[in-house]
Amino acid sequence: MKPKHLVIAIDGPAGAGKSTVAQIVAQRLGYTYIDTGAMYRAVAWESIHRGLSSCDSGGIASIAKNINLKLSYVNGMTNVTINGLDVTDAIRTPEVSKTVSSVAQIPALRQVMLKMQRDMASSGGVVMDGRDIGTHVLPGADIKVFLTASIKERAKRRWEELSDKGFDVDLSQLESEIASRDKQDCEREAAPLVKAPDAIPIDTTNLSIDEAVQQILCLCEEKMNVS
Ligand code: DC
Repeated sequence: MKPKHLVIAIDGPAGAGKSTVAQIVAQRLGYTYIDTGAMYRAVAWESIHRGLSSCDSGGIASIAKNINLKLSYVNGMTNVTINGLDVTDAIRTPEVSKTVSSVAQIPALRQVMLKMQRDMASSGGVVMDGRDIGTHVLPGADIKVFLTASIKERAKRRWEELSDKGFDVDLSQLESEIASRDKQDCEREAAPLVKAPDAIPIDTTNLSIDEAVQQILCLCEEKMNVS
C-alpha cells in the first residue's frame, strides 16, 4: 500500500472491538493510534482520585486542562500516565467504567478534549477511536468506520477481559451496565454516540479481529488508490 497520511476515525459502542482493531490498523499502516476513551477514563480517574463529584463540570474540565496526560503504545496496549504516574490499569477498573460516562457528558470537558484530539491528529497518519470522532472531532476524516456488535457479544468480551485481569464480575450485571452506558452515551446532548452519515458500518459480532482489520485496510487501500 502506498504510504499516505490518512486520517481514520473509528467510532462505536463499548466492547465492539474498536481499540484492538484500531490499534492493529495503525500498526499495519505505520500510523499513530489515539484511544480517546482512555483520555476520558484518565480524567474520570483523576476526578475520583481528587474526590470531585461527577456533577462538578468546572472542576472536571479544569482537570483536563491542567493535567499532563500522555498516551503511549507498548506491546499492543495503550499506556496512560497522568503527571508522570502510570494509570494504565487504574483507568480500566469497574469503578472508573461506571463513572466515565457521566464525566464524558460534560460539555466543557468535551470542548477541552476536542481541541487536544484535533491537535493530536493535525499531521495526519492517525487512527483515532471513540464515540464522536467521525461526527465532531474529525468530521473531515478520510475514512470513517462505525464498529458495532451485539450487546451479548460485547458483554462477553468485556467479561473475558476483566476475568483475565482477575476481576470477579457477573456476566448479566456487565450486560446491564454496558446497556446503561450505551444509553448514556447515545442520549447525551453533547456529541452523542451516533453513526456519521458517511461512516461505513462494520458489525463485528461474527467477525474475527483480523477480518475486521482486513475490511478497514481494504477501505484504506481503495482511498489511497483514488486519491
Ligand atoms: O471506549 P471506552 O469504553 O474506553 O470509553 C470510555 C467512556 O468515554 C465511554 O463511556 C464513552 C466515553 N467516550 C466519549 O464520550 N467520547 C469519546 N470520543 C470516547 C469515549
